[in-house]
Amino acid sequence: MDKLFIFDTTLRDGEQVPGCQLKSEEKLEIAFGLESLGVDIIEAGFPVSSPEDFRSVSLLSEHIKNVTICGLTRAVEEDIDVAVDALKSAVNPRIHTGIGTSESHIKFKLNSNQDEIIRRGVHAVKYARNKVAEVEFYAEDAGRTDNEYLARVVEAVIDAGAAIINIPDTTGYCLPDQYGEKIAYLVNNVPNIDKAILSTHCHNDLGLATANSVAGILAGARQVECTINGIGERAGNTSLEEVVMIVNQHKHIPVKHEIDTKQIIPISKTVSEMINMPVQPNKAIVGANAFAHSSGIHQDGVIKNRETYEIIDPEEVGAKGSKIILTARSGKAALNFHAKKLGYELSPQTLKAVYKNFLEVADQVKCIEESHLHDIFQNVKILA
Ligand code: KIV
Ligand code: ZN
Repeated sequence: MDKLFIFDTTLRDGEQVPGCQLKSEEKLEIAFGLESLGVDIIEAGFPVSSPEDFRSVSLLSEHIKNVTICGLTRAVEEDIDVAVDALKSAVNPRIHTGIGTSESHIKFKLNSNQDEIIRRGVHAVKYARNKVAEVEFYAEDAGRTDNEYLARVVEAVIDAGAAIINIPDTTGYCLPDQYGEKIAYLVNNVPNIDKAILSTHCHNDLGLATANSVAGILAGARQVECTINGIGERAGNTSLEEVVMIVNQHKHIPVKHEIDTKQIIPISKTVSEMINMPVQPNKAIVGANAFAHSSGIHQDGVIKNRETYEIIDPEEVGAKGSKIILTARSGKAALNFHAKKLGYELSPQTLKAVYKNFLEVADQVKCIEESHLHDIFQNVKILA
């Protein structure tokens, strides 16, 4: 089993969500949670972008000692100098530098050409390596970069001293097989690839960020860049919790991580509250409905055996347990389950009668609460 490095970018790429910027102290609070969760690298910010982001990277470098602290830069000397300064107290500092490599980035954003981009990337990596031991290079928009050219870029920056190579699908464009093939192409065609770790960094514009990251891991990537709750610009980044639980569920994926999965729901809640961004109820793993069952057929199955409709034990990710929600789609088994929990013993005939009443109320109120149940049971004169 290879180690899968979990690179958390909640505090950099995640925090780029409009209106969700965090103060340094708030970032530090989340970073303590991430350290305890077991991530390997925290991307703390983009130090040159603002004085407060510089302060965040400095503060995390001072206080977070068991995790690599990483600062983002463009392939620009000034960015690198500022990031090195912000990272000076870190036990394990990492500079994450890079440049756009796709045709559209080179032509429209950078007004440059392919050879010049390689030269600038190589220069940035060498410049950063003179100042810190660990340099990661990102080939921005690698998802839309021609594989042959990408391989040339990767070979050159590894030669220049980059130990981690990030292959971002910046625009969330790739299909899983395309992204997997891209990683496989680099594994098979870059002569010095054994000197570096390939990293996935997938955006979710087409809802494929997690699938693409997993395809990348299956093809040989050994670092995954992700955020708590999948937060990030536009449709967000790869969700940390999804990748981790996929690896846990599918034992044939030949990697292991060090995430303490019981801390997933608590940190999801902390991040959601601190950035003031609710988690969608049907979000995998951390959504309020991720372990909630409301249809009669499913409820009957789960009450008999949780595994009939759940592939993850909710406690494994820090949730309290499965939820049997009562709605007009629920069945008698669920109603009886709740009745017992409240101390009502219903005979089969009474259950049938109560159920009729229950459906009438449920059609009106959508979601049945405990107070409704007491009313429903009282109406048919059930004794507690
Ligand atoms: O999506 C992206 O390309 C990035 C890079 C800056 C790493 O976030
Ligand atoms: Zn990104």
